[in-house]
Amino acid sequence: MKMRFFFLGVLLCVFMQLNAEERPFIVVETDDISLIYQVGTDGRLYQSYLGERLTNKNDYVHLPQGTEAYLTHGMEDYYEPALHVLHNDGNPSALLKYVSHEVNSLEEGVTETIIDLKDEQYPIEVKIHFVAYSKNNVIKEFTEILHHEKHPIILEKYASSMLHFAKEKYYLTEFTGDWAHEANMSETLLTFGKKEVDSKLGARANMFASPFFQLSFDSPSTENAGEVLVGTLGWTGNFRFTFEVDHLNRLRVISGINPYASQYWLPSGEVFRTPDFYFTYSTKGRGEASRRFHDWARLHQIKNGQDSRMTLLNNWEATYFDFDENKLLSLIKDAKSLGVDMFLLDDGWFGNKYPRQSDTQGLGDWQENAKKLPNGLGRLVEEAKMEGVKFGVWIEPEMVSPKSELYEKHKDWVIHLPNRDEYYFRNQLVLDLSNPEVQDYVFGVVDGLMTRYPGIAYFKWDCNSPITNIYSMYLKDKQTHLYIDYVQGYYNVLERIRAKYPDLSMMLCSGGGGRTDYEALRYYTEFWPSDNTDPIERLFIQWGYSQVFPSKVLCAHVTSWNKKASIKFRTDVAMMGKLGFDINLHELSEQEREFCIQAVRQYNEMKPIILDGDLYRLVSPYGRQHTSSMYVDKLKNKAVVFAFDIHPRYGEHLLPVCLDGLDPNKLYKVEEVNLMKGSKSSLSENGKVFSGNYLMTAGLRLFSSQELFSRIVKIEAL
Ligand code: GLA
Repeated sequence: MKMRFFFLGVLLCVFMQLNAEERPFIVVETDDISLIYQVGTDGRLYQSYLGERLTNKNDYVHLPQGTEAYLTHGMEDYYEPALHVLHNDGNPSALLKYVSHEVNSLEEGVTETIIDLKDEQYPIEVKIHFVAYSKNNVIKEFTEILHHEKHPIILEKYASSMLHFAKEKYYLTEFTGDWAHEANMSETLLTFGKKEVDSKLGARANMFASPFFQLSFDSPSTENAGEVLVGTLGWTGNFRFTFEVDHLNRLRVISGINPYASQYWLPSGEVFRTPDFYFTYSTKGRGEASRRFHDWARLHQIKNGQDSRMTLLNNWEATYFDFDENKLLSLIKDAKSLGVDMFLLDDGWFGNKYPRQSDTQGLGDWQENAKKLPNGLGRLVEEAKMEGVKFGVWIEPEMVSPKSELYEKHKDWVIHLPNRDEYYFRNQLVLDLSNPEVQDYVFGVVDGLMTRYPGIAYFKWDCNSPITNIYSMYLKDKQTHLYIDYVQGYYNVLERIRAKYPDLSMMLCSGGGGRTDYEALRYYTEFWPSDNTDPIERLFIQWGYSQVFPSKVLCAHVTSWNKKASIKFRTDVAMMGKLGFDINLHELSEQEREFCIQAVRQYNEMKPIILDGDLYRLVSPYGRQHTSSMYVDKLKNKAVVFAFDIHPRYGEHLLPVCLDGLDPNKLYKVEEVNLMKGSKSSLSENGKVFSGNYLMTAGLRLFSSQELFSRIVKIEAL
């Protein structure tokens, strides 16, 4: 029966080829972008155009045919394919022809286009999906692969997206680094050959490379000028972006799961759905591209993206593992007096046989340590409630310490090679989330805590180890499925948590910024960009992440890293994101403590502008001694400007900073805020009124020649 449909499909294909004049243009478009495909006389699908929106449909016929859209291994192409399959008869090729396409409206301003491709020789099918968010100018792409061969086919390569470009020059910006050194931006000119940005880390997937990139065409783009494509993959595991320039100087960009050690056996009739790749394209530089992503993410992607976020006091750097009930009760009081919304209890509260008094043991035993917390978490939840602050708690439920009761009981749940010595990253191992029993257990960690203590308002969900010594007892002869099934298992758990606790806020943390992708953010309200909270380093790290993520999801805490920087400097840096404190308030002077209390109040007042406004990055910290960014509310009535002097040079000539995003015709009052008690603003324009036009063309003299000096300036329309 299935075969009959298949042959019918093939006949249809042949028919399509015969009617060349009926070959359709398939147009995926947003308000400003067009992505146009056409079917060639050979019946294959070609990408004819990607760029600024083409307004006249009659012009489409003039477009060049372009490059085959979703190139396959084994045929005429000489470069990296999007798809590589192995059929039941051992044949490694695929040739995809257009069958049909459909366009569906998903909601107001959101349209899905599905293009169906089939092979005439083998019953395999690829559906390419595009979801276009018109107003936000973001396009989401993924593919579905299925077949009706008798036995499973083997998927060797299975990209989410393949995009083609024919430009003079290509400049790639990648975001790479390490623990405490995340999302460093570096730009390379792509020349002939292949450049890959990928991850093979499994769980803590983004420790070295973030799953996003910027690609500028012809010349490097700036904040306000230049042609740029920004892309990111929503996959909390191994990803790969391949950029390959061919002999004709054409570029292909292939995005998807990293197929490294991940051959996948796909049974007949089942669908392999690739993760989502999201991109935007702008002719006005990186600033516009970022703002598009920020708006789209708050509206369509991030968990509770439209809601506000809680400020918090975290005990990690104040106590590390050294705390007991009394210390925590007094920290809850500190949270209250600081005026933040929540107290967050970090690592170290659990384990009895193997108490978690350091990172060497206890992971997996999620019962309160009876010595530290004789009255359980319940006492803390109650106290927080009495003080009128929310309570949050740290967990790392995907992991296990070899010194834990869980490890003793369930070695079969641990990813490790049974016949080799174990290797520990941060003294721990990863649980096998491909196993449904492990998924139940991980869900049970959250569900158990929530059932016992419904007052818990927040989880900081950590993931400190990559997958090492990769072997699953559960997957048996399908070991190459582990990297993928692990992530699917992780999503199954998160899906259950979100369904049962839709309002629960969660921080995505992975030894700092080891997990930073948009699929995870469907389940988490925010993420921890880095364990590095040195404010100077944070200026770079936050600058990097802000290229793709809104400040609403960037947790930024005031800590005691780099005490050379004043508490004001440290707080001003953290106020650019989702503000928190991770510091012993009693180490601060009276004046510093008072400043923090006042800063929380100030932040609360400006929070809607910072978290939901438009970000304009004004002066980059890269290669400069100063940096500045601002947020503007959607009505252009209110703005907040941040300015930092890092290490001014002797005798440096300071230039004014031109603001952005304001209404040139409105009048605005300029006022420096968040000053230490007793100090006066040294900003020459303080308290004065200017037109938006002046502020954006003549600018403000925001910078000083003082080392580690910062200022926050409020701009308000009269
Ligand atoms: C990771 C996190 C930190 C902290 C520790 C606790 O390193 O990034 O913020 O929670 O774990 O062990």
